[in-house]
Amino acid sequence: MGDMDGLDVTACTNCPALVESRSRIVNGTGPADADVLFVGEGPGEQEDRDGEPFVGRSGTILDDTLREKGLARADVRITNCVRCRPPENRDPTGEELENCRGYLEAEIELIDPDVVVALGKVPSEHLLERDVAVTSEAGTIERATLGGADRDVLICVHPAATLYDRSQEETLDAALEKAAAMAGDGGAGGQSQLGDF
Ligand code: URA
Repeated sequence: MGDMDGLDVTACTNCPALVESRSRIVNGTGPADADVLFVGEGPGEQEDRDGEPFVGRSGTILDDTLREKGLARADVRITNCVRCRPPENRDPTGEELENCRGYLEAEIELIDPDVVVALGKVPSEHLLERDVAVTSEAGTIERATLGGADRDVLICVHPAATLYDRSQEETLDAALEKAAAMAGDGGAGGQSQLGDF
C-alpha cells in the first residue's frame, strides 16, 4: 500500500506498468460529503495531464448529462477504480484493480454516499464482483458491501459509450436520472439543485 492523506493517494508504486505510464496519480474530485459517488475505470490521457478524473470527452458528456438532471459536477464526487493511467488506455488488469482497491474502499468509507454509480463495465464488475452486461443492466441498483457498509450500487453505461452508439444516450440519461433522484434521499447531504437558481 502507498501513502494516503485523507482522500488522496500521495505516493504509490504498487503497479510497475502504471508507474511507467502515468504522469501523476489522479485522485477523486468533489466534496467529501457528496451524496453521489461516480466510479470510472481509470484516467485517460487528459485526466493524466490535468490530474482530475473525467475532464476529457467522457467528462463533458458526464457533466452535460448531470446538468440536465439538475446535478452540478461540483456537487458530486468522481473517482476511478485505478488512479494511474494504463499504457495506451488499455483496461486495468485484475492485479492493478486489486492494488488500487484499498484506496477506493477508503474513499467510499469517507464519502459515505447515498449511491455509488458504476460508470461502465470495468467499475460495475469490480464493485459488484460478478460479470455484468452493462447495456442491459444499466439502471439496475444492487447492494454491495463497500467501504465497510452495505450500499446501493447503480449500474450505468460509460459516458463514452454514447460516442460509439447514439442509442446509449437514452440509457445513460435514464440511469443518471435515477442517480439524481437517489441523491439526498438519505437525508443529510445538501445537493444544490441547479433548478433552484
Ligand atoms: N474514463 C474513465 O473511466 N475515467 C476517467 O477519469 C476518464 C475517462
